[in-house]
Formats: sequence, C-alpha cells, structure tokens
Amino acid sequence: MRRKVLSIFGTRPEAIKMAPIVKALEADPRFDSHVLLTGQHMQMLDDVVQMFEILVWRDLNVMKQRQTLPYLTAALATQISDALAELQPDMVLVHGDTTTTFMGALAATYARIPVGHVEAGLRSHQKFSPFPEEVNRMLTDQVSDLCFAPTEEARRNLLHAGIDTSRIDVVGNSIVDAVHMALPHLRAPDIMSKVRPGSPMVIMTAHRRENWDTGIAIFSDALVKLSSSHPELTFVFPVHLNPVVRETVFGIASDLPNVVLTDPLPYFDFLYMLEQCAVVLSDSGGIQEESVTLHKPMLLLREVTERPEAVTSGWVKLVGQDEDLIVSSFEQLVASGFAILGTDGVNPYGDGTTAAQILARIDDYLNATH
Ligand code: UD1
Ligand code: UDP
Repeated sequence: MRRKVLSIFGTRPEAIKMAPIVKALEADPRFDSHVLLTGQHMQMLDDVVQMFEILVWRDLNVMKQRQTLPYLTAALATQISDALAELQPDMVLVHGDTTTTFMGALAATYARIPVGHVEAGLRSHQKFSPFPEEVNRMLTDQVSDLCFAPTEEARRNLLHAGIDTSRIDVVGNSIVDAVHMALPHLRAPDIMSKVRPGSPMVIMTAHRRENWDTGIAIFSDALVKLSSSHPELTFVFPVHLNPVVRETVFGIASDLPNVVLTDPLPYFDFLYMLEQCAVVLSDSGGIQEESVTLHKPMLLLREVTERPEAVTSGWVKLVGQDEDLIVSSFEQLVASGFAILGTDGVNPYGDGTTAAQILARIDDYLNATH
C-alpha cells in the first residue's frame, strides 16, 4: 500500500528546500505524494514550484499585503485543518521555522497525524532573534514525531530540548540536494545585462522582521557608502516583496550608478548570480548554507545565527546591524582580493543525499507504526 505523505509549505525557502524531497516522493512507488501550499508567499514561491515542476494538490492562498502574525496563524490553523480532514494523509512533512511550518505541524498534531520536521533543531538560543523563527522551531520540534536534523549541532540542541534520541536523525540539509539539482540548469539571466562586464559582483538581500525597525535602513546606508567608494564593483540587490522592506531600500538606495535594485529573482537565476559573485551581504538563513556550499564569502547582517557551522567553516562572518563593522569587514574582503575565507573541507550541510535519507526513515517509521 502506498503511503500518503503530505508536504506542507508556503514560503520561498521552504519551497526550495522541500523541492528535492517532494521530487523524490513523487518518483518513489512506496509513496503517494501530495503538496499543500499555504500561499503564505505568492509570487516569491511560484517560480520554485514551476522550475522544479512540483505537483500541487491544493493552494490555500492565504497571503494578504502586510499580513500580521495573528492573521496568518489563525487563517492557517483552520484552513490546514480542513485540508487534512479531507485528504487524511499518513504523514505530514513541514520544513524550517515559518508560521506555515509551525501551524502545519500543530494542525497535523490536532488531527493525530504524525509529523516529520525537516531542518529540525536549529537554535540561536535567543527567543526574539530571529523572530518569530526561533519560537516556531522550538514549538515545531516538540510536536514532531521525526526530527530531521541537518547537523550534529542540531541533534545536540534537540537532545537538550528533551527530545528523545529515537525521534532524531541527522540527514544533512536538503539545500545541498537543491543546489545539486539546480546547477546543471543555470543560465545567465537577463539581469546580468545590468552588470558591467568584468565588474566583480556583490549580492545583497535583507528581509528579517527583527531588522525592520533599524537594520534594513542601516544596511541600505552601508550599501550607499560601499557602492560610492567602490565604483569598480556592481551591487545587485533583489529586494524582498515585503512593502516594509521595499519602502526603506528603495527610499535610500535608488538611482546609484553601480547598484542594481530588482525584484526577487527566480531561484535558478539567483543561484547563477550567487555562483558568479565575489561576496554576499545578507540576513538570510538559506543563503548562509548556499554560501558555504558554493564557497562564497558572506557577511551575515545579524547579531546571532542558528547556523554556527557556517561561521566555523570560515565562509560566513557575523557583522550584525553595525554599519562601521559592515563597512570595515567589507573593506577587509576587498583588500584581500575577496580572499577565500573558508576551507575546502567537508560541507557541514552534507553531500546532497538528504532527500533519500528522509524517505528511507519515513518508510521505516510508517512500516513500524501503521
Ligand atoms: C517569511 C517568514 C520568514 C522567512 C521568509 C522567507 C514568517 C513569520 N516569516 O517572512 O521566516 O525567512 O518568509 O522569505 O513565517 N509578499 C508579497 N509576495 C510574496 C511574498 C511576500 O507580496 O510572494 C509581501 C506581502 O505583503 C506579505 C509580506 O510580504 O504580507 C510579508 O510576508 P510574510 O510571509 O508574512 O513575511 P516574510 O517577511 O516574507
Ligand atoms: N533566493 C531566491 N531569489 C532571490 C533571493 C533569494 O531564490 O531573489 C533564494 C536563496 O537562494 C535561498 C532562499 O531564497 O535559497 C532564501 O530565502 P530567504 O532569504 O527569503 O529566507 P530565509 O532562508 O532567510 O528563511
């Protein structure tokens, strides 16, 4: 009997990292794969679904402009529950730390459906940084039957949270699977026509909620400063569709000769730019893992990270919201000719076999319990 597995996701990073798992489920005769999109994101997720040719069972389309956490939470609680009652899956998979993640796990728990949490056990150990992601991770791990930890560090965090060792598997991070799947398809996107030939590229992104008040403005000011002192570089900044982010970034950093502000790029286009760039400035979670995987130096625009192995690998340096530190760290990188920061060692996020490991574990689990 084929096991009905429902993958629930709703934002860009979840879609990218669930894509390899969904593709493996679709191709595996042991499973009957279904995908429930919550629609927490719309445009920013559509290209991922198209590029990986993901079969979607249902899209809840919950997104509203400037949506609040209480709105999202309430809408997702009832609508995911209704979808679960209709489909009655054998298992639910959620990914990461968004509101979709936690409400997917909670709704499945209310329906007494087992939950697998992909990318479990990440911790910054600070309740409000990143916010609300740290809280979402803690709560999701607690209600999950299977915790798929990317690293040994994540396993230790789960054990420390009182989660039994039998619920934990260290499987690497499916971002490595996604990068491996995408690399053969990368082609120069149109946006490359705005990059002067021979000009080294700097990629920038920012969106975190805890950076809304002051951080995004500080990063944009740093961008103005750095782009004017380095006319030889081209800064490419795909700006998140959140209006809070866009108003600040476009308000401060528009119309600079060597700064390209653009809408979010489709995943394969973004990965092409990342692969080609000299350095990355970002507050993103997933881009930390991609920088390590693609061997790109990254200045992390955060005070803390739940991905300490990215820092110890040498590729990622924490610079927080401190404009002077952002500028001086960047200058050091320029002075060293964008010297490689990290080592060529083993990727802490695994070898791209995360999806296969997760499927094997789900199969064992369902055979033992059903
Ligand atoms: C969400 C996640 C965050 C994750 C990020 C990835 C929560 C609370 N936050 O943050 O953990 O790092 O996604 O990008 O789960 N918008 C659009 N179109 C889109 C997407 C967003 O217009 O395709 C705009 C809408 O106005 C929306 C706003 O962005 O209301 C915020 O979206 P939301 O998902 O609430 O927060 P993010 O900051 O994207
Ligand atoms: N990304 C993308 N297009 C862009 C910017 C980012 O496809 O214009 C991808 C990036 O490669 C990474 C993911 O989006 O895989 C990270 O998403 P985001 O930074 O929004 O969320 P986080 O990882 O911080 O939760």
